[in-house]
Amino acid sequence: MSETLSNLAREERRFEPPADLAANANVKEEAYERAASDNEAFWAEAAERLDWGQKWDQVLDWSNPPFAKWFVGGTINAAVNCVDRHVEAGRGDKVALHWVGEPADDARDITYSDLKDEVCRAANALTDLGVRKGDRVAIYMPMIPEVVVAMLACARLGAPHTVVFGGFSADALASRVIDCEAKVIVTADGGYRRGAPSALKPAVDEAVSKVAADGGDHVVEKVLVVRRTGQDLGDGWDADRDVWWHDVVDAASSEHEPEMHDSEHPLYVMYTSGTTGKPKGILHTTGGYLTGTSYTHWAVFDLKPGTDVFWCTADVGWVTGHSYMVYGPLANGATQVMYEGTPDSPHKGRWWEIIAKYGVTIFYTAPTAIRTFMKWGDNFPADHDLSSIRLLGSVGESINPEAYVWYRKHIGAEKAPIVDTWWQTETGQMMISPLPGVTAGKPGSAMKALPGISVDVVNDEAQPVGNGNGGYLVIRQPWPAMLRTLWGDDQRFIDTYWSRWEGLYFAGDGAKLDDDGDIWLLGRVDDVMNVSGHRLSTTEIESALVSHPKVAEAAVVGAADEMTGQAVCAFVILRDEFTQDGGTGSTEGIVEELRKHVQKEIGAIAKPRQIMIVPELPKTRSGKIMRRLLKDVAEHREVGDVTTLADSTVMDMIKTKEDSSATEE
Ligand code: PRX
Repeated sequence: MSETLSNLAREERRFEPPADLAANANVKEEAYERAASDNEAFWAEAAERLDWGQKWDQVLDWSNPPFAKWFVGGTINAAVNCVDRHVEAGRGDKVALHWVGEPADDARDITYSDLKDEVCRAANALTDLGVRKGDRVAIYMPMIPEVVVAMLACARLGAPHTVVFGGFSADALASRVIDCEAKVIVTADGGYRRGAPSALKPAVDEAVSKVAADGGDHVVEKVLVVRRTGQDLGDGWDADRDVWWHDVVDAASSEHEPEMHDSEHPLYVMYTSGTTGKPKGILHTTGGYLTGTSYTHWAVFDLKPGTDVFWCTADVGWVTGHSYMVYGPLANGATQVMYEGTPDSPHKGRWWEIIAKYGVTIFYTAPTAIRTFMKWGDNFPADHDLSSIRLLGSVGESINPEAYVWYRKHIGAEKAPIVDTWWQTETGQMMISPLPGVTAGKPGSAMKALPGISVDVVNDEAQPVGNGNGGYLVIRQPWPAMLRTLWGDDQRFIDTYWSRWEGLYFAGDGAKLDDDGDIWLLGRVDDVMNVSGHRLSTTEIESALVSHPKVAEAAVVGAADEMTGQAVCAFVILRDEFTQDGGTGSTEGIVEELRKHVQKEIGAIAKPRQIMIVPELPKTRSGKIMRRLLKDVAEHREVGDVTTLADSTVMDMIKTKEDSSATEE
């Protein structure tokens, strides 16, 4: 990225909403005012867009902060809202998912009726496998329709799901299954990635063994397996535990009487990286989450369910896939594209080919993808008819102005507005974004808090910084899709988000207000990295490195990277018996071994771009690693102030080491 952060807020280009979009927009300027004058009435109206069993008695119970309850006394079923009600309203023949497999011509159109039948069958099959309301079910799957079916079947039963990204390792899966004590895992034999089948089931087998070894009394009782690739599973099949999806789901009845669950009934747990090693289980509940995601999906994307074709490119293993591929869009009765594979398989124009084929009108992706397309060249989108596009979205990190302008020009034909949406796994729903019919777009700014959301930028003393200044992003009032707690750890929930300042939710991001009061996100202020729009914890990767027998100590930083936003850079001290020349000799073999080790422990996404074997790490006198200095090295900058180091010669040693080794790929 060529712009510096301080330059960002000086961006002067401005793109006004197109007149026709503004005239017909779902949400107009008055919404801000209405929400400000009566926040609860505003969210109650958003909740009315859903079908409830029992209506709520109270919109918000905030008598015991930070534990919020929304739509208290109401009952609701998320699956009924996402499928049954569309079928009952006569829209059963409408396509819910244009599913596109990675192999050419491997595609299926699934209508809302199809989806309802399949969700009911899966709910019956899961019940037969012993899943009851309140039980947790882990889902570890590729991007195939069955993952959506599995999630909705769990929601229907009131069995909270925990979807673990298919790119995560067996260890990562096991630790999540142990933490939430999932009793069933839904998976597939594999999925397709970059033209080849990629296995999933062996990782599940490994995870299940780890759970048996480490999980106390808790065991995984059943594994439900979709046959996707037909890979040979060898002896990796336990006849007592493993069940084929096509045996039990296909045979189950498509009639299933749904129960209406309490509005605050847990819907799912999504694990995300925090500043310490152990991932946090973010808990979302039903009524508020569905209200927040369906309202924002309709408002921010100006969704017209009758004519729009929506495509969110996120994997369902991340929160974006949960809120804006499953719950928000399906609750709104949208027609969507869902794609299994990578953007360059079998060619670099695959996404544009899909947009042209299905007439996608609203497209939502991440800056890291946009930068990759910029690098590949303008000819790939130019070769396809993208004229159906009317709105573009961005999420995961700040979109740098160059990428914004490229996106607008090459994908949006200089007319489609771009909504840069800031939110988090914790917030569940978008929080800061332009409204496409109301707000002008400034390249690089997420602009304003959405109606009904109160964010602010404050200094260390919790005082608002005011226009033209930077500080910490906070949220002042509860919102419907907010996380309710961390699974099994209320204290960590309080400590992490609500303890820095009384009554304020601390998001962990820095932000700046420009002279108009518009918001510019400046990245994380804690030890959380953002790699390709995904959150990774420095501590978690350090722990993975230190678990390798050759490693004595490790420090990890996120260094600026042109493609991925940030990249993982590790500094490692080897144990004495593995160092050559006191740690300064050739270390190529070890570096590769360590990169593979991190991949095995966490997943390919956490694999360091660069590992430097160093003799020492920079520490303060109290022993704290000064990552700031390591970041200077990783970003090839002049090393900053070293006066607080216990040993001021350490940075010289590291710098010498950097100059003499080239471990970067
Ligand atoms: O730092 C912010 C960044 O991603 C973090 C949340 O990550 P995660 O929970 O994985 O959710 C990602 C998808 C919602 C935030 O704390 N972030 C997300 N969107 C933006 C962003 N930073 C700047 N601009 C955005 N639009």
